[in-house]
Amino acid sequence: MAEPATRKVTMEKIVSLCQRRGFIFPSSEIYGGLSSCWDYGSLGVELKRNIKDAWWRTLVQERDDIVGLDASILMHPQTWEASGHIKGFADPLVECKSCHLRWRGDEVKDDRCPACGGEVTEPHMFNLMFKTLMGPVEEEASVVYLRPETAQGIFVNFENVLNTTRKRLPFGIAQIGKAFRNEITTGNFIFRSREFEQMELEFFVKPDTDEEWFDYWVKERLNWYVKLGIKRENLRLYEHPKEALAHYALKCFDIEYLFPMGWGELEGIANRGDFDLVQHSTFSGKSLNYFDEDAKQHIVPHIIEPSAGVDRSALAFLCDAYDEEPDEEEIRVVLHLHPTLAPIKVAVLPLSRREKLAELAKKIYADLRQCWIVGYDDAQSIGRRYRRQDEIGTPFCVTIDFQSLEDEQVTIRERDTMKQIRVPISELKTTLTAKLSGEPLFVLPPGGKIWKEEKG
Ligand code: GAP
Repeated sequence: MAEPATRKVTMEKIVSLCQRRGFIFPSSEIYGGLSSCWDYGSLGVELKRNIKDAWWRTLVQERDDIVGLDASILMHPQTWEASGHIKGFADPLVECKSCHLRWRGDEVKDDRCPACGGEVTEPHMFNLMFKTLMGPVEEEASVVYLRPETAQGIFVNFENVLNTTRKRLPFGIAQIGKAFRNEITTGNFIFRSREFEQMELEFFVKPDTDEEWFDYWVKERLNWYVKLGIKRENLRLYEHPKEALAHYALKCFDIEYLFPMGWGELEGIANRGDFDLVQHSTFSGKSLNYFDEDAKQHIVPHIIEPSAGVDRSALAFLCDAYDEEPDEEEIRVVLHLHPTLAPIKVAVLPLSRREKLAELAKKIYADLRQCWIVGYDDAQSIGRRYRRQDEIGTPFCVTIDFQSLEDEQVTIRERDTMKQIRVPISELKTTLTAKLSGEPLFVLPPGGKIWKEEKG
């Protein structure tokens, strides 16, 4: 990870915002935390759900050539022999002879410990899969693994899905779920953890069409991040050199993001060829092939795999959205999250806690909650409340003032421009629906008017 970023965002600022505002906490914090495991709080869980929903919508809902799957985390141990994980899913591990810290081989220069400079041991291969025991008997025969990727659940279900959906090539199977890796070193917040979530697509194609589908998926996946607001200049493609490819891959590109600590992998897109179906077919004794109606013969499909991390995506979306803008007295911290991803879509802010106003505000709040996750804040000055919503990326605030009781109108304030419009309460839901879908603020509903630019 070279080339440190020269942006306002730093990892310290993101970690602090995430903890302060309830996006992400260290796991089991009251016991001192558990290394490289994280808990998503009230805002983080919404952000993560929105990322997963956006992925699912783009890949499964809006297409007719991809279906979903939810396979179990624990799989037959032979799965991991067939996949090559038992033999090959390992990193070289070295240990410092002085301070006994352990490092991945590639983190160590000139056989010296990066922490204390002590001499390190010879590397030995360390398998990254978590082992556990299935059933009440503690013996070698009951060892199972926590899956290190969701992909294998898809490969072993290839025939089930083919037979039950009657899809023809090319078609894909999509899955979102937890994966576990006993990483030797972790760090950079949620970038590398031992428990994380993946969004994986296995796209099955005819063997001679793999290259064009590979190019297609690289473009599609890059565009997905851009459409959801990531700046194009903060994304780049990295092609794995032939000699460094994973054992299953014929070709692999990473979509990299310019994180505060430098460029890092966001998603890997691999051409896996026929490796997986051939391996599972050999190990299970079941033929995993496909009858090609055109060629009138059985073929083994090839697989293109875009594999993304939910947590890394969350980190990238947070970093890219983070901004600090000079304001009259202080700095305005704002998350310019795409409305699709924003944890809270709208915040309802009554200007005062006086009974009549609160009553109307609560009614509006209850009504809007039928459509979105909505916030309610009646504490402190309206300026402070706007800032609190800016900091967590809420795209719109609805302000209810004393005039609202007379004219049945409320103010909508936009996060990014801080401009405001005034709309009839009867038009509020349709107006917010349109604005959240990207309609410019000053396209007004019947009876609406431009209000004012916020001061301070
Ligand atoms: N099935 C292919 C596969 O798992 P990978 O490149 O090892 O490929 C895919 O993982 C994605 O999963 C990565 O691009 C990254 O976003 C995420 N990922 C992998 N290891 C991770 C870790 N330790 N912590 C957080 N995310 C991780």
